[in-house]
Amino acid sequence: TGYVTLDSGYKNTGATKSAITFLDGEEGILRYRGYPIEQLAEKSSFLEVAYLLIYGALPTEKEFAAFNHEITQHTLVHEDIRKILDGFPSSAHPMGILSSLICSLTAFYPKSIAPEISKEELDLNIVRLMAKISTIAAWSYKNSVGHPLIYPRNDLDYCANFLYMMFSFPTEKYEVNPIVVRALNKLLILHADHEQNCSTSTVRLVGSANASLYGSVSAGINALWGPLHGGANQEVIEMLESIEADGGDTSKWIAKAKSKDDSFRLMGFGHRVYKNFDPRATIIKKAADEVLQALGLQDSPLLKIAQELEQAALTDQYFIERKLYPNVDFYSGIIYKALGIPTEMFTVMFALGRLPGWIAQWKEMRENKEPIGRPRQIYTGELERDYQDINAR
Ligand code: CMC
Repeated sequence: TGYVTLDSGYKNTGATKSAITFLDGEEGILRYRGYPIEQLAEKSSFLEVAYLLIYGALPTEKEFAAFNHEITQHTLVHEDIRKILDGFPSSAHPMGILSSLICSLTAFYPKSIAPEISKEELDLNIVRLMAKISTIAAWSYKNSVGHPLIYPRNDLDYCANFLYMMFSFPTEKYEVNPIVVRALNKLLILHADHEQNCSTSTVRLVGSANASLYGSVSAGINALWGPLHGGANQEVIEMLESIEADGGDTSKWIAKAKSKDDSFRLMGFGHRVYKNFDPRATIIKKAADEVLQALGLQDSPLLKIAQELEQAALTDQYFIERKLYPNVDFYSGIIYKALGIPTEMFTVMFALGRLPGWIAQWKEMRENKEPIGRPRQIYTGELERDYQDINAR
């Protein structure tokens, strides 16, 4: 059967060539299609970055207007999907609803499963997915709190419409806060792609069997749901809340994180690839300061605890020796909380941001006609034995 090399967790195995995202963990560099993440976070919008990742170039004014218009026109979901949503208990986790309803789109649009997909059909699938995920995500939240579902508004831009569907009520007038819209754009941009991470590799692997884009993305959502992957932002907030409830003594928790007798880790610290700093963390820290200031929440006890923890860790020999720095999730939860996003929606927000990356990677994989993904193994079981009848065992 040939020679098989084992690399558990694919720590050193490249699974593909890709022209989408460049990442240098030693230098702390992240670029989408060659553009530094710092410039995109500062100057671009989430939808423009989505176009860049998916189609490879920044859109012209005309291209962006068409992309935006198409997405706006597809935000409604089929009313039968609403019936599926009605079947979920209000206790259902929004990530469970999101993955199920995104997967159901394959059944509503069966042309999406095909060995060859025309450019028109693929563009339509992309637009549908980009548009409908925000409606489904907002509805998954409304379902969890038992509130009436809010239908999309075509006069609002992508992020504003999402916030409107999340937070408005049919009984009240709702004004979307531009500070919140800007912050949301930035957060989604920072999450939009991160090369061959666990969920993205999942999307590519499922898609390599010629499965539909919807089904592949749904599989990616399930991978992201795992606490080792997308769940960290929620854990950071829960950690900060525990420290606050414990009296706010950060040195005690730093000691806990360093102790070999305690499995506790400082959540939001350290990264498999970034060993110098996570460039997303630098941007997000500044954004957290600005957003909380603008919303009048600068005295937030959680922000204060996070700043103290960061300062203590950055000057502590244990963290310095191990090259442990704050990662993107250290401050993202604080901003989401300040924006009014409930904790159980944090991973859904990550999915919303990561969607253009998943789409771009799926599209690249299909366009490059990559073969079906099929890893090998090193077999460690019984070599051969004879079958025994059940009463002889
Ligand atoms: N707090 C305390 N000690 C830590 C931490 C931490 N957050 N992270 C790593 N260490 C220690 C670890 O105990 C080990 O020490 P020693 O060498 O004495 O045994 C050393 O640092 C190396 O750790 P590792 O687990 O071998 O490193 P890794 O590259 O396999 O793990 C990580 C990376 C992100 C899983 C880990 O740093 C961690 O668990 N961090 C906390 C969870 C977290 O914030 N995750 C979000 C990741 S960013 C989101 C994303 O991009 O998907």
